[in-house]
Amino acid sequence: METLKGQLALLTGATGGIGRAIARALAHKGLNLALVGRNKTALDGLRTELLGTGVDVVAVAADLTDRSQRRNLPIRVASRAGEIDILINNAGVTQVGAFAEIDPEEVRSVLELNTVAPMLVSRTVLPRMIERKAGHIVNISSLAGRVGLPWASVYAASKAALTEWTLALNTELRDTGVIATAIAPGLVSDAGMFADLAVKAPALLGTSTPEAVAEAVVSALEGNGGEVIVSSRPARGVMAARALAPGVVESTARRLGLLDYLRSLSGKRRE
Ligand SMILES: NC(=O)c1ccc[n+]([C@@H]2O[C@H](COP(=O)([O-])OP(=O)(O)OC[C@H]3O[C@@H](n4cnc5c(N)ncnc54)[C@H](OP(=O)(O)O)[C@@H]3O)[C@@H](O)[C@H]2O)c1
Repeated sequence: METLKGQLALLTGATGGIGRAIARALAHKGLNLALVGRNKTALDGLRTELLGTGVDVVAVAADLTDRSQRRNLPIRVASRAGEIDILINNAGVTQVGAFAEIDPEEVRSVLELNTVAPMLVSRTVLPRMIERKAGHIVNISSLAGRVGLPWASVYAASKAALTEWTLALNTELRDTGVIATAIAPGLVSDAGMFADLAVKAPALLGTSTPEAVAEAVVSALEGNGGEVIVSSRPARGVMAARALAPGVVESTARRLGLLDYLRSLSGKRRE
């Protein structure tokens, strides 16, 4: 873990439920941080907290759905904090509700933030990482991209694309010294986009905490990339079952209360 100390991690979505936990875990390991989000006040508050741990922290406000802000982000970060060793694409937005009723603009904005932004920010930092023969791109994806969530179908599609792209990229980068990891959490309790919708998830589903996701990120930084699942329930079996017999997974999801839970989120706004 000593090797991580003093490296610079650019973390998007730093002020969200999972982002804060990742930022705290990385600071605890001695990494310097560039915190990114749109809300400058929230970023500055988190920066002040983390400076107390003795690492260097810069706060950079940027809207990742804006093309030029997205393109300029790595340059702004590098000019203030130095070489980016690690990029953590964590910013994301959820989408809940029936697809037949979705605002077409929402389809674009979910894909833009959850899928296009991680790809294009990575595209900007990768050539330099390859040149230096070192670097790690961590994409915070979701199990939603592996099991296909009804009433969150665009969100699930955005994460499916993110995971598959990460796996392909990691293979493409083999022998370059640069690694790509997709972290796929199931439902996260306590804080974050689903917790903020204030509809209690069925107990049988099982949830993880933002801290468990953060721990998985820290461990992944010493791994060889690929996909890391964060779930309090066995998930690989469900994924395998889905490939072989999709109907069984749907009936299990119904029995566990997942489908009713997702339907009940329709029309919900964050509290
Ligand atoms: N919570 C879960 O159950 C769960 C499960 C699996 C995967 N995930 C994934 O984990 C990641 C973090 O989720 P979370 O639960 O922590 O969500 P969250 O609490 O809603 O945080 C979202 C973060 O993204 C930033 N953001 C939103 N729109 C942005 C934009 N246009 N430009 C730049 N930054 C933007 C927000 O900051 P500003 O508002 O300041 O911009 C915030 O820091 C997401 O990718 C999510 O899909 C979450």
